[in-house]
Amino acid sequence: MIPKKKLIEVALPLEAINKAAAREKSIRHGHPSTLHLWWARRPLAAARAVIFAQMVDDPSAHPELLPTEKEQEKERQRLFGVIEELVKWENTTNEKVIQKARDEIWQSWRYTCAENADHPRAKELFNRHKLPAFHDPFAGVGALPLEPQRLGLESYASDLNPVAVLINKAMIEIPPKFAGMPPVNLDAQQQKKQMDKSWKGAQGRGED
Ligand SMILES: C[S@@+](CC[C@H](N)C(=O)[O-])C[C@H]1O[C@@H](n2cnc3c(N)ncnc32)[C@H](O)[C@@H]1O
Repeated sequence: MIPKKKLIEVALPLEAINKAAAREKSIRHGHPSTLHLWWARRPLAAARAVIFAQMVDDPSAHPELLPTEKEQEKERQRLFGVIEELVKWENTTNEKVIQKARDEIWQSWRYTCAENADHPRAKELFNRHKLPAFHDPFAGVGALPLEPQRLGLESYASDLNPVAVLINKAMIEIPPKFAGMPPVNLDAQQQKKQMDKSWKGAQGRGED
């Protein structure tokens, strides 16, 4: 594989990530941490930022497009702007912000696929229509696997502890199976009729 320097290897907007991560620890309503208390839980904001920065190329990896350091730094600051929006708790379900991050990930992935087109296993490893999967073998309560799933990657989690496995099932395995489906409880279905509400993502399960 032809290596490309990733953003995380060069710089991160740490102040914004730290601020969002610290703030997240004090927010309880609607937070996955209310499912079950767990030790060493990582903040979702930090998980989201590091996964994004591992998937996106650093601008210095593209001298053909950005030949000067000044141009590279300008582009890096633009990517920092994407991260700064991405880590905010309020943007956790903001489809516009998340889609912007997904688009950046896809762009870097397509460069990687193009550069590795001659790899003997290119068809399997560098498919420009399929992002690489993510696996956290020590997932705990799944902060790490949840965030790549939000960013469009297929996510896998495993853990020695069956409680962690159960929580990961509830967080990352079951909700996608019911994505976009209405709730089963009649009150919420009635509400939909009144408001002509469409059920996006896990909203239906949330109502239940
Ligand atoms: C520090 S916690 C992970 C916390 C997680 N990153 C989070 O944000 O919630 C480490 C996890 O590793 C698991 N673990 C320890 N040894 C393991 C092993 N040999 N195989 C699989 N999981 C293991 C523990 O059960 C624990 O859930």
